Amino acid sequence: MKVITAISNMQKQMLTDKAQCKSIGFVPTMGFLHDGHASLLRKARAENDLVVLSIFVNPLQFGPNEDLDAYPRDFDRDNQLAEQLGTDYIFAPSADEMYPGPPSVVVKTTARTEVLCGKSRPGHFDGVATVLTKLFNIVRPDRVYFGMKDAQQVAVVEGLLADFHFPIELVAGETVREPDGLAKSSRNVYLLPNERSEAAFIYKALRLAEQMAAAGEKSAAKIQAAVETVIRENTTGQIDYLEILTYPDLEQVGELKGKIIVAAAVRFQKARLIDNIILTIE
Ligand code: PAF
Repeated sequence: MKVITAISNMQKQMLTDKAQCKSIGFVPTMGFLHDGHASLLRKARAENDLVVLSIFVNPLQFGPNEDLDAYPRDFDRDNQLAEQLGTDYIFAPSADEMYPGPPSVVVKTTARTEVLCGKSRPGHFDGVATVLTKLFNIVRPDRVYFGMKDAQQVAVVEGLLADFHFPIELVAGETVREPDGLAKSSRNVYLLPNERSEAAFIYKALRLAEQMAAAGEKSAAKIQAAVETVIRENTTGQIDYLEILTYPDLEQVGELKGKIIVAAAVRFQKARLIDNIILTIE
């Protein structure tokens, strides 16, 4: 496995590999890898000749009062895990390498971002879309892998790939969970011990939505109220949002129909967790 930090070297390497008709699977991350990333790397390994992992904590997608500086980092551990999983290249540029000065062009998202994390983190998805546009141009992957825990990110990337005509296939991997249901996340390390046990109720609450829908409940408002109650009664976290929307367009729904997402963000003392469940209603 090769670790590459310079954009020019990464581009050269990718052009050389592509000239040999190698297919490239790309897993973009901000590092501090967990089992969710591992499952994407495994999937990429199985489906491509070469696997590229990027590790870059992208300043552009963090708001002024967010956890950019505190975002967990452990490059040596990531390196070891990536190697064990058969990764061919880690692309790990510095912030100065990616943004040597104020950008002259940024990508502005115009759909699917007025709700959920896009609403509570203004500018977040513009930062994600901008860095991914740069990374796609550097890596030139055939397939790119994202986890469904960030379902809104998957929906936004789908729009980015379509609108900018990137010849890249988007592969979305299932959310990987702890035995009690908590979605794996790099930010889970910041949960206090009591918060860690409480956090499992986020998924339990989302499962209640699934059960209510399976029992025939069609009212989004009723399901939303029931899910909120489970989170409020069982955690000390503050609900940042809890919404039921169409997926992937992320539009409001009154009556459940078709493919919908039930998504929550809960703010604990040092960690803001997100999770969701996607349901298909006949
Ligand atoms: O999901 C993430 O880790 C980040 O948003 C991504 C896609 C690597 C862009 O910085």
